[in-house]
Amino acid sequence: MNILVVGGGGREHALCWAIAASPLCDRLYCAPGNAGIAAEAECVPIDAMDIDALVAFAMERAIDFVVVGPEAPLVAGLVDRLQAAGIKAFGPTAAAAALEGSKGFMKDLCARHGVPGAGYRRFTDPDAAKAHIRARAAPVVVKADGLAAGKGVIVARSAAEAEQAVDALLVERIHGAAGAEIVVEDCMAGPEVSFFALVDGADVLPLATAQDYKRAGDGDAGPNTGGMGAVSPSPRVDAALHDRIMAEIIRPVVAGMAAEGRPFKGVLFAGLMLTDEGPQLLEFNVRFGDPECQALVMRLQSDLLPALMAASDGVLKTFDLRWRDQAAVCVVMASNGYPGTYEKGTVIDGLDAPGGEASGDGPVVFHAGTRRRDDGRIVADGGRVLGVTATGATVAEARAAAYAAVGRIRWPGGFCRSDIAAGL
Ligand code: GLY
Repeated sequence: MNILVVGGGGREHALCWAIAASPLCDRLYCAPGNAGIAAEAECVPIDAMDIDALVAFAMERAIDFVVVGPEAPLVAGLVDRLQAAGIKAFGPTAAAAALEGSKGFMKDLCARHGVPGAGYRRFTDPDAAKAHIRARAAPVVVKADGLAAGKGVIVARSAAEAEQAVDALLVERIHGAAGAEIVVEDCMAGPEVSFFALVDGADVLPLATAQDYKRAGDGDAGPNTGGMGAVSPSPRVDAALHDRIMAEIIRPVVAGMAAEGRPFKGVLFAGLMLTDEGPQLLEFNVRFGDPECQALVMRLQSDLLPALMAASDGVLKTFDLRWRDQAAVCVVMASNGYPGTYEKGTVIDGLDAPGGEASGDGPVVFHAGTRRRDDGRIVADGGRVLGVTATGATVAEARAAAYAAVGRIRWPGGFCRSDIAAGL
């Protein structure tokens, strides 16, 4: 089969790494890819949001199956367009991707189907939003309704901070049309976990759990990022909690989406908070997490590609996956200054040190934002740049292996947290 993966980050490197190993895969392309993905796939210089060009490429190269990594092209209708052209794809249609593309839609759907989560109200009028915030007199979360590249959620500790967020989103439109509507939610407290499941429109195949490290600095200090590391499985989710998450959150949403004429196919990524009242839904994403995906694929023993195809074909009921009885830890290396301003083009050495390349069962360095210079050197080309991922019999062993691999990389222009998966 000819396969096209859409995207160019660490998640897409992990997907390409897993798909390239499948005996079903003859030719693998990635659009646009990156310097690390180029070791697994032929990279084609098409932006993940250039839907016309992606559909044209898929038709021209007789692509049998397209795997869409990021949320933005899903919300923009890439899967609908591919299907209309007769090309199979993994990922939800635009109507189903609204679970991530509209926070208000997601909250209303969950309310209709009794899925536990924070109390909320939707607003387009800033004065009405501020009156609600003052009346709550409690910390609230202010969210842009649409996609804002992970920057649309403000956890406000005071009413003044929340009102500033309302102005920034609804009045100043710092996220453009994505902030034309907002959701104001009550604040919940508790540890967070990520839960991933494949969905074929009706049936659900749970994949795995993970924990993400969102802050830039050790001890969860510093600004929010796209994710500075991940560990899978989450030690916080035992079998009883897993069953509860499936029964109270995942299955009702999948059934609700089908009943409302928006059957969801693809990977459903639930961000959950474990509260005294039980697991509560924080958000849904309609794609794999980044860097959670890097940890997930290294624990997967079965071939990923037929599982993604089974989700697309609606035959997950008959499907099963085998997982290694191991933990995986991913440590993200980012450009100095990230998530603020950072320099591009800094040279990275040591990527081909023993154990530092994608080979065998050792650690794998997934590339998130890299470019190969004309002289062959690999340079940083983004904020999050590498995802150094390793497995082990325990979280501690996986963590030690991941940090040992980090130590072999020579990159003065980058940094990582030193406490990913510490103490688990
Ligand atoms: N790591 C969080 C996300 O992918 O949204």
